[in-house]
Amino acid sequence: MLYQLAAISLLLSFSAAQTPTGTFPILINSTSTLTLAVQPACGPLDSANFTELNAGISLNTIKTVVTFGDSWTSTGSNGTIPLPPILHPPLPSAGAANSENRRATNGFMWSERLAADLNAKLLDYSWGGAVIDNFAYNTTSPLNKTGVPRSDFVAQAGLFFLQGHFLDALVPSETLYTVAFGINDDGQFKIAGGDIDLATNTYITKLGELQAAGAQNILIHWMYTSHPETDALQSSVFAYLAASHAANGTNVAFVNLEHLFSTIAAEPAEFGYAGNATCLISANTIVGGCDDPDTSVFYIPGHPSMMTHGLINDYTQAVVKRCVVDS
Ligand SMILES: *[C@@H]1O[C@H](CO)[C@@H](O)[C@H](O)[C@H]1NC(C)=O
Ligand SMILES: *[C@@H]1O[C@H](CO)[C@@H](O)[C@H](O)[C@H]1NC(C)=O
Ligand SMILES: *[C@@H]1O[C@H](CO)[C@@H](O)[C@H](O)[C@H]1NC(C)=O
Ligand SMILES: *[C@@H]1O[C@H](CO)[C@@H](O)[C@H](O)[C@H]1NC(C)=O
Ligand SMILES: *[C@@H]1O[C@H](CO)[C@@H](O)[C@H](O)[C@H]1NC(C)=O
Ligand SMILES: *[C@@H]1O[C@H](CO)[C@@H](O)[C@H](O)[C@H]1NC(C)=O
Ligand SMILES: *[C@@H]1O[C@H](CO)[C@@H](O)[C@H](O)[C@H]1NC(C)=O
Repeated sequence: MLYQLAAISLLLSFSAAQTPTGTFPILINSTSTLTLAVQPACGPLDSANFTELNAGISLNTIKTVVTFGDSWTSTGSNGTIPLPPILHPPLPSAGAANSENRRATNGFMWSERLAADLNAKLLDYSWGGAVIDNFAYNTTSPLNKTGVPRSDFVAQAGLFFLQGHFLDALVPSETLYTVAFGINDDGQFKIAGGDIDLATNTYITKLGELQAAGAQNILIHWMYTSHPETDALQSSVFAYLAASHAANGTNVAFVNLEHLFSTIAAEPAEFGYAGNATCLISANTIVGGCDDPDTSVFYIPGHPSMMTHGLINDYTQAVVKRCVVDS
């Protein structure tokens, strides 16, 4: 089993989705053995709460994808074009054996599949464990310090503003920015006892800075689980970007992973899943793990399998294509 996992990730091929007309050829195996057995739950721009929709994004024009987020997005490349994933058993994270440059899954991430489908260049700023705002996060811990230093949207955007324009022309109409935060902020993102929601404010501030720097296409992924605080955060970001669409003409899309993952949890077999929902028993080793990660929803606990990343890509594109609102 160890050998099989390594072999699958070491072998690369041009996927069927690749076309010779692309401007940025990418080596990726985007085979999918699962079925997207869910329709997006589309809603309107004037919704009181966050809802799935696409106001103006056309994937056909996208030649560069810039990502911000946490371990659900990170390829471990930290502001560069990702290298292909390689598993080094018994380490579960596909990436370099001796560095931080890894993925919390057994192969390609959703963002790499999306970029490959679009023949687009991927610039990935996301990082495992990331929160929205380290300062806000720290203020919810005793002495305003957390045990582990974390990446945040502030640092990721800061690195992008510093060097992104050296890596790509970042033509506004041809660049898609994807943002996904919240899992690691859950229960943490308010200043304890205060009424200023610092993290929400930071999230919105960074989205404003991205627009000021030329971002015209912004796609948000919501968390895969629902919680009162993160739902409120998501609704605030939704309201802000809906206003940005009206005021600045920014194209915006919202993809609710909770809708995808709650449907998977209810009907896993419909998607092609079988056996263990989570393949590995821990984040530290593949020893004792399942035999077939391709039919597991999660690979590392709390982190999608490579095949589920394929579904996240399919679902993201389904929302962009089917939830188009007049604007
Ligand atoms: C691509 O991935 C599929 C599913 O994991 C696997 O069966 C196939 O062997 C892979 N192809 C290559 C060329 O690695
Ligand atoms: C919005 O969400 C809140 C809870 O987060 C809920 O009380 C309210 O009914 C929702 N409103 C709409 C229009 O769905
Ligand atoms: C990403 O790269 C920047 C610049 O080299 C560095 O300052 C930062 O610490 C890196 N972030 C992570 C999470 O490694
Ligand atoms: C948050 O706490 C971590 C760990 O103690 C520390 O490394 C980091 O500098 C702090 N960040 C801020 C913004 O206070
Ligand atoms: C933590 O930071 C907040 C915000 O600046 C401050 O109000 C609070 O007094 C700090 N708490 C501690 C224990 O330092
Ligand atoms: C419009 O874009 C600017 C940056 O150019 C940003 O600061 C502002 O928040 C956006 N306006 C709205 C209403 O979203
Ligand atoms: C998979 O499920 C079986 C049967 O429920 C269980 O015995 C086994 O420990 C599970 N394996 C993992 C890796 O969770």
